[in-house]
Amino acid sequence: MRALKLANFNAYLSFITKPGNELERQMAVDLLTTNETYFYREPKHFNFLQSVLAEWQGEKAPLIWSAACSSGEEPYTIAMLMAEAFGSRPWHILASDISMRMLESARTALYPLSRAKELPTSFLKKYCLKGHGDFEGYLLLEDKLKQRVQFAQRNLMEPQRLETKVDVIFLRNVLIYFDNKTKSQIINNLSRCLKPEGLLFIGHSESLHGISEQFTAIKPALYRYKGARA
Ligand SMILES: C[S@@+](CC[C@H](N)C(=O)[O-])C[C@H]1O[C@@H](n2cnc3c(N)ncnc32)[C@H](O)[C@@H]1O
Repeated sequence: MRALKLANFNAYLSFITKPGNELERQMAVDLLTTNETYFYREPKHFNFLQSVLAEWQGEKAPLIWSAACSSGEEPYTIAMLMAEAFGSRPWHILASDISMRMLESARTALYPLSRAKELPTSFLKKYCLKGHGDFEGYLLLEDKLKQRVQFAQRNLMEPQRLETKVDVIFLRNVLIYFDNKTKSQIINNLSRCLKPEGLLFIGHSESLHGISEQFTAIKPALYRYKGARA
């Protein structure tokens, strides 16, 4: 408001919603979203995913979507587990967020080492390059892994369409920002992109209780999709 010399929030809202002011609107989104994330966050989820991947029976590797990926640590952690399980076989990961600033940072894949405290050292050594000189204290993700993750901007509040339904959705630490009605709408939107029996990971401080009956709880913050209603 101050930068644009606007008097109040109403004036700001009408400014950012005017056609032609899309850049200003994106800036508001980038400033308003909370983007905290790090590698191997909520490790129980990744340990469980690792066991699912190890026992995977499908002809093709599973398709996984990180639907509020922030600066990319979550999809890149998933990519490390996929690389361990499927190596050079064909696989890729979808990752999306509403914040263009976060997506740019995710595509660059340069992170302070402090974001990798939870990451097993073997993964750090195998999939990350250690920064030197100006980049001391940073890690850069290996190109081979970076190329496996497709980033795109998506707003969870809009109906979602994907070319292929996915086997697993990570939707962690984003539902907390919405009221129950919006949470239901988001879950409904996303479930259309999930295969029956597919897995949905949400944050450990979140729940689908009273939000959706289309999922069965199988572990803390982990659900299995029952499939679309007949
Ligand atoms: C706290 S981060 C969670 C990152 C990661 N999933 C994790 O658990 O570490 C929440 C992310 O949700 C994104 N977000 C918020 N509202 C959104 C929306 N309507 N559509 C898509 N992403 C959204 C934010 O931009 C932010 O990057």
